[in-house]
Amino acid sequence: MDASITLLPEAAVGPVADELFGSFVEHLGRAVYTGIYEPGHPAADEQGFRRDVLGLVRELRVPLVRYPGGNFLSGYDWRDGVGPRETRPVRLDRAWHTVEPNEVGIDEFCDWARKAGAEVMAGVNMGTGTPQDAADLVEYCNHPGGTAWSDLRIRNGHRAPHAIKRWCVGNEMDGDWQIGHLDAVDYGKKAREAMKLMRWTDETIQTVVCGSASPNMPTWPEWDRIVLEHTYDLADYLSIHRYYENPGDDDDFLASHLDMDRFIEISAATCDYVKAKVRSKKTMMLSFDEWNVWYQSRQAPHPWERAPRLLEDRYSLLDALVFGGMAISLLNHADRVRVACLAQLVNVIAPIFTEPGGPAWRQTIFYPFRDVSTLGRGVALRPIVRSPLKATKSCGDVPALAAAAVRDEKSGEIAVFALNEDRARPLRATVDLAAFGASEMADRTELCGPDLSAANSAERPDAVRPARVRVARGDAGRYAVTLKPASWNVLRFRPGRAATRAG
Ligand code: AHR
Repeated sequence: MDASITLLPEAAVGPVADELFGSFVEHLGRAVYTGIYEPGHPAADEQGFRRDVLGLVRELRVPLVRYPGGNFLSGYDWRDGVGPRETRPVRLDRAWHTVEPNEVGIDEFCDWARKAGAEVMAGVNMGTGTPQDAADLVEYCNHPGGTAWSDLRIRNGHRAPHAIKRWCVGNEMDGDWQIGHLDAVDYGKKAREAMKLMRWTDETIQTVVCGSASPNMPTWPEWDRIVLEHTYDLADYLSIHRYYENPGDDDDFLASHLDMDRFIEISAATCDYVKAKVRSKKTMMLSFDEWNVWYQSRQAPHPWERAPRLLEDRYSLLDALVFGGMAISLLNHADRVRVACLAQLVNVIAPIFTEPGGPAWRQTIFYPFRDVSTLGRGVALRPIVRSPLKATKSCGDVPALAAAAVRDEKSGEIAVFALNEDRARPLRATVDLAAFGASEMADRTELCGPDLSAANSAERPDAVRPARVRVARGDAGRYAVTLKPASWNVLRFRPGRAATRAG
């Protein structure tokens, strides 16, 4: 059976929030030190930020970066990271068993984010931190001046407020690995008090409360319900996280996005249940602020060290395809997922990799992220996908084709993202845009190759990268394309002359 993707103007998911293409920088491993920041590197700017890394971040068009954690957040005192560097304490970061020099703190990170063209989504510590600490940080960052904390920011060289709009109230608080881990009721109460103080400090901010750390937690989804019942009126988003690693079967791994669909839908349903229960008119949005492929099983114990090599997954072509499937899932749920953060950005489970004193390069997952981030802005359409099924070991029979599509309202251009999960067979597919009137295929790329384990490295930075494919001519708005086995495909269409010949 051939496959098809049909798009209709009336079948839309909804507008895609720019913040769907956010990312995450944690004080973890070499994300900050020798990642974004390396004074003395030939590419370092006057503040010690690596220009080569900044260039790659800009290429990804990341609009928002979550900071400073992650697990790190729950033991972090933000005051350690402000003021003259020579007086900042060196601390043990007990979350990642690392020595934290505090050379980068909230002020430097906001400077870096500005250079990267991104806003900061800051986290407040709900482990060892108090609601007062959280509100003080909001005051330090956002209050114009004339108070102790805002004047300290000014003395530290930042007259203009950082104007941080979105705030994460803790991180993964139901995980026993979390410093200061709490049960749902205790976290719900603490988060509520913190949000009250934070909002009374700056009423324009938005807040994100912690959902369960993962759907694999025994606390999920009951944790989310209880936390929301305590915080529904004060929160704007429920934070959700999901990582996948190869379970030992490539087909099951490729089907990860189906599990992600279900996870998002149950998270949204849990929010809606609480919405009804607390008689609210507000619809809670999801902040999917950690998502990626992550080989958690590869972690090993290490000594106390500054900037150790932690979570430095080298991504394969297969990982990039799975990642593309996850991006499709996000776009298809853009009505509820209003913030998403690729976890993370540099070195630590990241699309960008660096060597200290050496080069920076694009990992395989860089490409599907860049595709959706650059072409996935607009209104997400709900594609009607017909696909042959393929058998998997644990997921049963699943469609070989997954797809998402986004229409740029201004230009009328439509981008289609399509994943052929069949590792053996090409898919002959029709992309049907007839309902949109005259169009032409403007551009087409594919990411695929004979070796699914291929990866990029300092020596071979371009071993895996997308290739341009000859565009197809449409026949009355229908385009016949062949999607190679195990391939990530991007097809861009623009409104145009009606093309009549099949190509
Ligand atoms: O992104 C790596 C870690 O994964 C984060 O610190 C934590 O929030 C999650 O468990």
